[in-house]
Amino acid sequence: MLKVGFVGWRGMVGSVLMERMQAEKDFQGFEPVFFTTSQAGQAGPDVGMGAKPLLNASDLDALSQMDIIVTCQGGDYTTEVYEKLRTNWNGYWIDAASTLRMKEDAIIVLDPVNRHVIDAGLKSGVKNYVGGNCTVSLMLMALGGLFEQDLVEWMSTMTYQAASGAGAKNMRELLTQMGELNGEVQALLADPHSAILEIDRKVTAKLNDGTLSTENFGAPLAGSLIPWIDKAWENGQTKEEWKGIAETNKILGKSGAAVIPVDGQCVRIGAMRCHSQGVTLKLKKDLPLAEIEAIIANHNEWVKLIPNDKASTLAGLTPVQASGSLTIPVGRVRKMNIGPEYVTAFTVGDQLLWGAAEPVRRMLKITLD
Ligand code: HSE
Repeated sequence: MLKVGFVGWRGMVGSVLMERMQAEKDFQGFEPVFFTTSQAGQAGPDVGMGAKPLLNASDLDALSQMDIIVTCQGGDYTTEVYEKLRTNWNGYWIDAASTLRMKEDAIIVLDPVNRHVIDAGLKSGVKNYVGGNCTVSLMLMALGGLFEQDLVEWMSTMTYQAASGAGAKNMRELLTQMGELNGEVQALLADPHSAILEIDRKVTAKLNDGTLSTENFGAPLAGSLIPWIDKAWENGQTKEEWKGIAETNKILGKSGAAVIPVDGQCVRIGAMRCHSQGVTLKLKKDLPLAEIEAIIANHNEWVKLIPNDKASTLAGLTPVQASGSLTIPVGRVRKMNIGPEYVTAFTVGDQLLWGAAEPVRRMLKITLD
């Protein structure tokens, strides 16, 4: 029976992966082996076959006994272990972290969009399969139909990224900031006759006086936003913005002259775990709006076209509805006044599901099949 090693299964993405695997009854037909970076020897989780002691995630001998390793432990772990392990191991490495994504011998996995790339990789002996950047994966799940039909000349995406993309501590910090701001003005809020400008003055003072909890974000996010994600890249971009062009094209298997230009601004906002993005597309031809909508809606079983009216948008196109769901709503689809080939859309998706754990979960299944 194939042995599958799991590393980082207790963290935020790893926990979502475990939940999804149990919900889909994935724990069958292979032997799961659980690793830990800190609690070797303690009892592992019981996923239906009894609990076994956890193995040390730095133990290369133990890791090399695995046929497949699935890691949600993060980039530092991959950097520390992967190269050393590979000198003496030829198994499948399935990773949620970005470290190996752009390597020649790695495929970025998003099977509803690039199953053909994955299948070709498996056939040709590629052993590294890596989940994509969350905004890129969510965008492609939403607009995959337009790319599949080779309709996109270029795309600009402006993102509204949730706290979860920065990590669990950041989610806590966002809520802490919200509480701290609320605490400043609780008495005034309770009085319906209090002056809103007095409330605003106190909130603004708190946002600026350096006492708000900002250890993780480095700035207030509640009551504000942060138009910078990840480190500086080239040409004024952030690395998160660069991933838009690099990963989109790699997922689609496009290189050289076939590369589709993608660029935009990535912004952190005070949502919990759903990334949103407003997209501008230049299509290669002027298609009727209804046809564009049909192409989007029919691409995969998770994408859901939301009619472009206020009631439908409020009811179905916000992080509130997408949170905890595999559904990828796409709405506000319309032709822009700029010209007939210019289309705009807005999309939302759960950053921990299709943005992180789900492509990895599905890749494990594909590898096992
Ligand atoms: N880099 C993303 C973010 C998260 O900061 O929101 C995962 O791809």
